[in-house]
Amino acid sequence: MRQKQGGGQHGSSCIYSKWHSTILNRINQPGFSAPFLMAVVSLVICSCAGGGGGTTTPVPLPDPLPPPVINVPNLYLLAPMSMTVGVAVPAGRSKMSLLKSTGRQTIVNHHFSQLTAENIMKPRHLHPAESTFFFDDADALVDYAASQDKTVHGHTLIWHNRLPNWMNNFTGNEVAWTTMMTDHITVIASHFAAGDIVVSWDVVNEAFTDTDNDGDGLNDLRNTIWHDNIGAGYLAAAFRAANAADPNADLYYNDYNIAGSRAKLNAVLDLVDQFQNDPSPVPIHGIGFQMHISLTWPGIDQIRESFALAVDTGLKIKISELDIAVNTDRSRKPLSLTEFTDAVAVQQQKRYEMIVAAYMDEVPEAQRGGITVWGIADPDSSKRSYNAFEWPLLFDDDLISKPALQGFADGLTGGR
Ligand code: XIL
Repeated sequence: MRQKQGGGQHGSSCIYSKWHSTILNRINQPGFSAPFLMAVVSLVICSCAGGGGGTTTPVPLPDPLPPPVINVPNLYLLAPMSMTVGVAVPAGRSKMSLLKSTGRQTIVNHHFSQLTAENIMKPRHLHPAESTFFFDDADALVDYAASQDKTVHGHTLIWHNRLPNWMNNFTGNEVAWTTMMTDHITVIASHFAAGDIVVSWDVVNEAFTDTDNDGDGLNDLRNTIWHDNIGAGYLAAAFRAANAADPNADLYYNDYNIAGSRAKLNAVLDLVDQFQNDPSPVPIHGIGFQMHISLTWPGIDQIRESFALAVDTGLKIKISELDIAVNTDRSRKPLSLTEFTDAVAVQQQKRYEMIVAAYMDEVPEAQRGGITVWGIADPDSSKRSYNAFEWPLLFDDDLISKPALQGFADGLTGGR
């Protein structure tokens, strides 16, 4: 808790001379924000300007100073009851594992209503050998979630990354590949269907590329082991298998850059359209927008438009992996910051607010699959792996809340 600052020193012709160390201290606090700075600046201007005649009227100082600007006891409670506010968590053998870090547990328990396993529910972790499934780490995480009344979003059944070697080296015809894939999905989705904690799954992650080589306005399907051995029909087969294994789970297609690339979003919408108009409709319940974004890209208008187009499908829309890079360009190259300045913190706060507000405005309550941030605190962020000077999340290196948390909260409440 921030300490009260004393405010009783008067007598200077310019208040700034007496206040500047207080102000600087204040700005260095995690709770510093633009409104506070503006208040201070106005105070300084009012006090210093117009005093030219030598006589000064002492300006009454607020005592105590305004309350801390980051005032978010429980982020998820600011969202409507029906909407989850989630976080991706390290688990298993990660040295930052949620299950080994009481600091992280405090944050997660207070601020989030849903967990996504950052890595330990990916194919390589859950299905290390053809006839071996490994559920211990994931079960421990699911049990933890249950103990805290949180739900879990399963991530991810089918992907082209984080595959076990045996899957990459699998040989067989289309039927054998389809059986292998659907067995993988069936065993995993059935395992977690048993409790009520895993409420949704990313069934297929990142099936589209970032290019439209045939020029049809839709980005192309990625050449993955699944696509190359089964054909485009692997997507529908994966969703059908997941639905059969866990009929209660919400099933998502999840991808990156779909808020910023119309051709990629169009490819996803086209897929959904095919699913919905199949003579035997393919069970899909949601679209996951990963949203690994930056301070400036994509533009907010494009983000809003993308949400609105996706809402038209009638499916749930989830922001599934939100983080906001402040020092990395679109091709993952570091920019020039070497420290996380207060000015950048405020820009990031505003950007979080804008994104969350766009989601709340554009996605009707019944279609909100929730918002999940991709990591608890900056040192956990996957972005640190290619830029040590990156601060994309809501909590800092000391697990202290950042202005970004206030931004997220204000986005949920409309600044009320
Ligand atoms: C990332 C994890 O955050 C990293 O720890 C891991 O090394 C690689 O995967 N899209 C996804 C996530 O769907 O699974 C990725 O997570 C980030 C991009």
